[in-house]
Amino acid sequence: MLRKLELFDIEQIVELHYKSFGENELSIKLGKEFIRIFYESILNSGYSFGYVYVIENKIIAFAMGINDYERFNAYFKSNNLYNILKLIILKLFTFSISINTILNAIIDGKKYTKLRMSNCHLGALGKDLEFEDILVSKKAIRECVGKVIDTFLSSDMNFCWSVCDKSNVGMIKLHYELGFALINEVKQFGRTISVFAINNIVK
Ligand SMILES: CC(C)(COP(=O)(O)OP(=O)(O)OC[C@H]1O[C@@H](n2cnc3c(N)ncnc32)[C@H](O)[C@@H]1OP(=O)(O)O)[C@@H](O)C(=O)NCCC(=O)NCCS
Repeated sequence: MLRKLELFDIEQIVELHYKSFGENELSIKLGKEFIRIFYESILNSGYSFGYVYVIENKIIAFAMGINDYERFNAYFKSNNLYNILKLIILKLFTFSISINTILNAIIDGKKYTKLRMSNCHLGALGKDLEFEDILVSKKAIRECVGKVIDTFLSSDMNFCWSVCDKSNVGMIKLHYELGFALINEVKQFGRTISVFAINNIVK
């Protein structure tokens, strides 16, 4: 069953995100507390939303949408800067964060500076890669993403962008399947991010 992301989903989403996202992802390097802060902000910012696909109370896929990326970022920073800095300092003291990760966090905004429009962002998405029925999990992630795109369309927004690590084959294939085009590649420290966009979203 597809439904909106709710507050009580956060713990499950944090675990699923942590389990499924690749180790190159900034969120994985920053850890579960950072991931929790991110999804809480998706629920609370007023500029974002999320969908989950649930089977027997278990979330098997999820996708987030951000209606206004800059306002979301401003909300995220102003509400969480102290906690994120605390988290990074703690990781520095325990030698569990690299300088590259810190630099990548600082330059993260570069990924969207060259976009013609930056408001609509297909945000974090993923599925349970261990779910036994692959066809069901494939359908689940497509329903979640489809609903995010429908939500953009229903508010007259026909442009959407998204990013992933250049080495994330599954995500790159999914972007092309959905009709996205590769519009930029942003070199970060130790990784490259592929930026995709879709104009006049057609489903
Ligand atoms: C991105 C994601 C939602 C795509 O789901 P999906 O479209 O249902 O696809 P799958 O993951 O099953 O794989 C898609 C394809 O990529 C291929 N693929 C995945 N990883 C691959 C790899 N390392 N090398 C080669 N092919 C790979 C699969 O074989 C599959 O090919 P097929 O469609 O021809 O069978 C899913 O892979 C996922 O949840 N990944 C983890 C979370 C994630 O990375 N999120 C994005 C972070 S920005």
